[in-house]
Amino acid sequence: MNVDPYEKFWMWMAGVIVAAFVGTIAYTARAYTLAPPSHVEMIDPTQAMQDPRFASPGVTSLPAGEQQVIMVAMRYAWLPPEVHVTAHRPVTFRLTSMDVVHGFEVAGTNANTMVVPGYVSQFTTTFDKPGKYLVACNEFCGTGHHTMQAAIIVEAAP
Ligand code: CUA
Repeated sequence: MNVDPYEKFWMWMAGVIVAAFVGTIAYTARAYTLAPPSHVEMIDPTQAMQDPRFASPGVTSLPAGEQQVIMVAMRYAWLPPEVHVTAHRPVTFRLTSMDVVHGFEVAGTNANTMVVPGYVSQFTTTFDKPGKYLVACNEFCGTGHHTMQAAIIVEAAP
């Protein structure tokens, strides 16, 4: 079969480009470790509830008025299903999953993170408006995904 030299050249070039792309992915995966981009904190998902960091889910008041919320995700619930926090004070959420990937989205706010088994997801936010906020799971996690929700009750500062 006679293949035009230019066509042959670009057939090889297509292969070289694909190899370069795959090589780039392989290199960055090894060199930078494929993992969540920030706050890489690991945990054994099967022992999450025995781990001292997640043994007592709920709200803790930290010195300086900060609040910390510990929550555990599992098919198809958040533990605890309802938390009470105070408005205008920073809230640090610490979340982990016992089974599959879940999504933690506080409806109507920009609070939104993936909850990946084996990792602790953490972010800090402040609620300015008192009220009841819905936490929806926004990663498809199974047949009960649409029922997986929790509530954050934001109370006015006393
Ligand atoms: Cu958990 Cu969807």
